[in-house]
Amino acid sequence: MAKNNKICGGLYTEKVMETFKNPHNYGRIKNADGIGKVGNPVCGDVMWLYIKVAQNKKKEDFIKDIKFETFGCVAAISTSSIITDLVKGKTIKDALKVTKDNIVESLGGLPKIKYHCSVLAVDALKEAIKDYNAKK
Ligand code: FES
Repeated sequence: MAKNNKICGGLYTEKVMETFKNPHNYGRIKNADGIGKVGNPVCGDVMWLYIKVAQNKKKEDFIKDIKFETFGCVAAISTSSIITDLVKGKTIKDALKVTKDNIVESLGGLPKIKYHCSVLAVDALKEAIKDYNAKK
């Protein structure tokens, strides 16, 4: 079994615990080009996602910087961290192709009852991009 797929405490993989303890891109972007805020009404967890957008040589919009603030469970924080790693540097078009399954896969799996937490990250990204497009 790959290191990332080892289960910690009978619930989470090592990768989940690692990203929970040391999340990447945690924080806020001042003057963000897009902000997405989503909440899970069932558990009360909330996530903010901030994006800074620039144009690449092909004149395509891409995510130059991305940060998040999540007040939520272990899975919500690690999926937030993973989505920032997955989409940073990607074009907006490609970033929108990232699915919750990609996130769950990158974490080496999530317990079924925690799948809904990964939706929070995908939805927050969509909201941030929607916000960016509306401001353009
Ligand atoms: S339990 Fe609320 S997002 Fe995980």
